[in-house]
Amino acid sequence: MGSRNYCLFSLSLIAALMFVFIYNSKLWRTNYFPRAIANASVLAEVCLQMFNGETFYMTDSPRKTTLENCSEYRAQNHYITETLSEEEASFPLAFTLTIHKDFDTFERLFRAIYMPQNVYCVHVDRKATETFKDAVQQLLSCFPNAFLASKMEPVVYGGFSRLQADLNCMKDLVASEVPWKYVLNTCGQDFPLKTNKEIVQYLKGFIGKNLTPGVLPPAHAIGRTKYVHQELLNQKYSYVHNTAKLKAPPPHNMTIYFGTAYVALTREFANFVLKDQRSLDLISWSKDTYSPDEHFWVTLNRIPEQHEDVFSTVPVIS
Ligand SMILES: *[C@@H]1O[C@H](CO)[C@@H](O)[C@H](O)[C@H]1NC(C)=O
Ligand SMILES: *[C@@H]1O[C@H](CO)[C@@H](O)[C@H](O)[C@H]1NC(C)=O
Ligand SMILES: *[C@@H]1O[C@H](CO)[C@@H](O)[C@H](O)[C@H]1NC(C)=O
Repeated sequence: MGSRNYCLFSLSLIAALMFVFIYNSKLWRTNYFPRAIANASVLAEVCLQMFNGETFYMTDSPRKTTLENCSEYRAQNHYITETLSEEEASFPLAFTLTIHKDFDTFERLFRAIYMPQNVYCVHVDRKATETFKDAVQQLLSCFPNAFLASKMEPVVYGGFSRLQADLNCMKDLVASEVPWKYVLNTCGQDFPLKTNKEIVQYLKGFIGKNLTPGVLPPAHAIGRTKYVHQELLNQKYSYVHNTAKLKAPPPHNMTIYFGTAYVALTREFANFVLKDQRSLDLISWSKDTYSPDEHFWVTLNRIPEQHEDVFSTVPVIS
């Protein structure tokens, strides 16, 4: 008896699993989502199809027209070429974009954050392919307020070169004539969830302070600045090697904090980062640490007294 019940149970279980499997594979097909839809009438059609629960297929390339004719390219891809509000006009932003691959993804990010009153510095990994570099250069040549970093690093994941890439762009940006108020750093896999106006309004709420939250290093992060790390780069690999060698204590008796590599910094602070001796010493000291972009900004931002009024602290990650 027991074995017959067992058999019936197994059969119904298999039937249920098959049903779930078939249902899911159908769902997966109908949920297929196109990579980008540039054309408004196509977008409306796709929305209608999704709303009706239908399947749709995109055969279209995301980009309209090649980059050969800039005015055509800007128009057909619906770039914003006029400042949208007085509030945004009087609060320009600077962006750094640190990228190494996937031109289409970069193009989408760039188009989404592009505003004529802002300024954009793009750092392309020196290891990237020539095709990629050329495509980025060609796109940027269509925009007077966007440029390639004057110095590009071969970027090693978790290495100092990642921070150096941002510093290179920051140096170019402080020399820009655009009177930007904050610099925001992005990477090739970012995409904005807020409009330019929302970002501006949010940053205004910080009344001239930096957005670089952090905490004292948690246990897993202590070794990153306690031991010597070395960037290794050859044709096959690039990685950060950790050694058992202890590092000297941080310069100027600084307390090292740990936070996010993605920040919004005021122009005054950017100048401080590039010129102040304490910052320059922290840069040198950080060269053989692991992922210094996660301690550098927050540690500098928390140097007490000297610049309390201008860049005192910001919300802390709990
Ligand atoms: C948008 O797509 C429709 C249908 O494919 C096409 O007729 C129309 O010319 C396209 N418009 C633009 C601006 O590309
Ligand atoms: C670029 O396209 C625009 C609009 O289609 C056209 O007026 C202009 O002559 C083109 N420029 C070149 C250099 O082909
Ligand atoms: C360094 O900082 C520690 C802790 O804040 C303090 O006790 C010590 O006196 C400082 N040393 C110097 C040389 O400033």
